[in-house]
This record gives sequence, C-alpha cells and structure tokens, in this order.
Amino acid sequence: MTEGDKKYAGSLNHAMIAGPEGRAAQEYANRFGEPGYDDITKVYIEQLYEGYTQENQQSWRTLYDTQMAYLTTHASEVYLSGARSINLVRDHIPYLQGPQSVNHFLAKLTGWKSRAVPGYLPAKAFFACLARREFPTTVVIRPQESLHYLPEPDIFHDIFGHVPLHADPVFADFLQTYGKAALLTNDPYHTERLARLFWFTVEFGLIREAGEIKLYGSGLISSPGESKNALLSQEVDRRPFDLDTVCNTAFEIDHYQPILYVLESFEQLRDAMNNYATRLIEAAGKVPAHA
Ligand SMILES: [Fe+2]
Repeated sequence: MTEGDKKYAGSLNHAMIAGPEGRAAQEYANRFGEPGYDDITKVYIEQLYEGYTQENQQSWRTLYDTQMAYLTTHASEVYLSGARSINLVRDHIPYLQGPQSVNHFLAKLTGWKSRAVPGYLPAKAFFACLARREFPTTVVIRPQESLHYLPEPDIFHDIFGHVPLHADPVFADFLQTYGKAALLTNDPYHTERLARLFWFTVEFGLIREAGEIKLYGSGLISSPGESKNALLSQEVDRRPFDLDTVCNTAFEIDHYQPILYVLESFEQLRDAMNNYATRLIEAAGKVPAHA
C-alpha cells in the first residue's frame, strides 16, 4: 500500500477493483497490443454494484447536486438532453448493467456502451475500446475528502462527465471515428496531435449555443471549480475551434486550463475529424510528410 492508498483507504473503495478479475484485466490492458493480447474485451470487468458503500452513494449525490445546479444553465443543451435520455439521476451511482442502466438507454439511441475497467488504460487499449463504441469506465468514486479534486478519473468523471454526450448521434460518430483513427496511426507526430484534440474537445471543450458559450468537455462538466473558471475567468483565452490549430496547441495538466476552444456545433467537430481520419488513412502506408 502506498502513502496515497493509505490516504484513500476505506473511501476510494479499492475493493471494487482489487480482486483477481480486476488484476487480470489490468494486466491484460497493460500488455494490449503485444502478440497474443489482442482481445480488448478482456480488459473489461463487472461493476460490483453491491460493493458501493453508503459514503460512496453520498459522494455521488453531493457531486450531482452541486454540478447539476450549475450545469442546468451553463452546459450544452446536447449534454443536458443526453443526461435526461440516459436517465442520469441523483439518487444513486449509475448502473452499467440491467434495465435501469445507462447502457440500456444508450442502446436505443446510438449503440454506445459504458464498460467497466479496473483503472487506467494505456492509449492503444483505450482507442481500441472507442473504435468499438465502448467507453472504458472507471467504477470507483472519489472519497468525501476529495470531492472537488481527484487527479484521476472516477465514475463521476466518466459517467456524469462523458456519457451524456454519447447519446447524441453526431458526437457518438465523432468519438468512434476518433478511436479508429487513433488506433490506426503509429506515427508519434499524429498520436500527439490526436491527444491534444481529445484534450481540447472531449475533456475541455466549449460550444456556442444560441449566442452563449456553454460547457461540454467532461473535465469541465465534472469539476465544480474548473467549470466556473472556464466560463467566468478573465485569464482564460477562449479561441474558435480549428482542428489544425487545436492539434498544434500543447496542453498542461494539474491547473486550470488557460486556453480553451469553442465549437460552433458538434457537426463541425465530426466533419473535421472525418477529414483528419481520411488524411490519416491516406498517410498510413506512406512516408510521413513531416519526417
Ligand atoms: Fe475524461
């Protein structure tokens, strides 16, 4: 047990993911792409729902109440309508399996699924999931003492932050195309550009709706501090989205984002990604032009 584990013992609830199934899935994910490690479904685990404690459920309710109160007037309508259509509710941590699960509702809308994973997935494994319309979902939830900041994803970030957009057909197609393109390229130049694209859209994206800038990136949606900073701070440079500009912009973690990009529509993002994917397919087999 590390110092960090001791700090969170009993509240981050590692028991949810620490069994032999979780360890085997993580080991497989770490080796994904090596010979004999090409079945991405082996990185998935069950959501052991009965393992959530009362404290875990309370963390969900507190976070839900805090964020939804702000998001109702500050999040993208696409996010808000997605949250309603997957039946995202305050009273319990979302189910990944069964008739009340987010996946039950998503199946009819876009076919995306949230699949439980034991922890951090290396890039190729992560992209392989997205290419199948499957979203790797952390099942643990942050402890009460870290409600406002956790440096790693949890189920609040992954489900509350990401999954409502998966109910939108345009965003759903964009994300799958992103996964396929990222899986295809082995060129570090493009891998870095794609990581930046993900960061400035899926994680920290803004969108203009009816003349107002709204939140949609999961890192903004799931963070009480960062969501307000993104819209209100005079220190944030809110730039119009342009795929090549985004891909050329380095990002930093561990502090509020000083640069954010604003979409005009999700069609703009989907079309730009389709265009980039076409370029990557054409480039795959050729000597990179930038080499
Ligand atoms: Fe995320």
